[in-house]
Amino acid sequence: MVYQSLEDLDFRADERPALPRPDRVLLTTPTHFDVEYVINPHMSDNVGTVNRDIAFQQWKALRATYTALDVETSVVNGQSGLPDMVFCANQTLPYYRPEAEERGVILSRMHADERKDEVPYYADFFEQNGYEAKHLPDDLEGDFEGMGDAIWHPGRFLLWGGYGFRTSPAVYEAISDMLEVPVIILELTDADYYHLDTCFCPLDTEHVLIAPAAFTERGLFLINECFDTVIEAPDDEARHQFACNAHSPDGTHVLIQEGCEGTVERLRSEGFRPIELDTSEFLKAGGSVFCMKQMIW
Ligand code: ARG
Repeated sequence: MVYQSLEDLDFRADERPALPRPDRVLLTTPTHFDVEYVINPHMSDNVGTVNRDIAFQQWKALRATYTALDVETSVVNGQSGLPDMVFCANQTLPYYRPEAEERGVILSRMHADERKDEVPYYADFFEQNGYEAKHLPDDLEGDFEGMGDAIWHPGRFLLWGGYGFRTSPAVYEAISDMLEVPVIILELTDADYYHLDTCFCPLDTEHVLIAPAAFTERGLFLINECFDTVIEAPDDEARHQFACNAHSPDGTHVLIQEGCEGTVERLRSEGFRPIELDTSEFLKAGGSVFCMKQMIW
């Protein structure tokens, strides 16, 4: 079932089956990372401005942070000619179905032609590592950008789905059927927040960090209904520093772009421990921590 308004909701988030926390992180080397084209508003003034040495240092600091938090890392090599491949949250949706104890990935259908050739590299990685890689049904039309738009509710077998810029709402019906999971869909209306992961960061079962300007009133009602505490990032920090493209691998630490002062203060006051990282080279392409990693079971 796909849910798009509060009136539709016929379950409570805390009644959904428990979902274990994924314990591995997939990263992609930024060897060929660059801004070569413009497919989101953040990229527009940045073509040709990436410093690859700095990008590589920033990426290594991210990898070291996961290692220090005891998250096992796997690495896929970035490929020449695919400058956005480093954003490895977008080509797949990894899943774990608690009742069936089944894991796998759903492969994306990238909206931008420039990114379509990234997907087979991830299909290969997952298949070689024993995961089933499922395709969306052939007769279904529509794009899907993986965990850029589809985000698991931490600790619950419940999926949140963003649509409007990169992903078509129709694909969530198919995903809901394929995984037998309810999907709550949220319309995105502001192009700066082109993926759900730019404006919606579930930290643990009860807490979510959001950029309210990204959502419709209907969406905000759904978010408020399903999380006990909604932490709002200041809009300038979310829009320009990707404050909501953060990631909590353990429900305590929050990896976040450095300099998001208001957000960091709000996270601390809710008991979280922010770890500030510099992802400035990647912000030039419209991405930060959340989209530079993929959590897998
Ligand atoms: N330049 C990439 C794009 O526009 C950035 C992707 C960042 N990923 C994300 N999940 N927000 O597709």
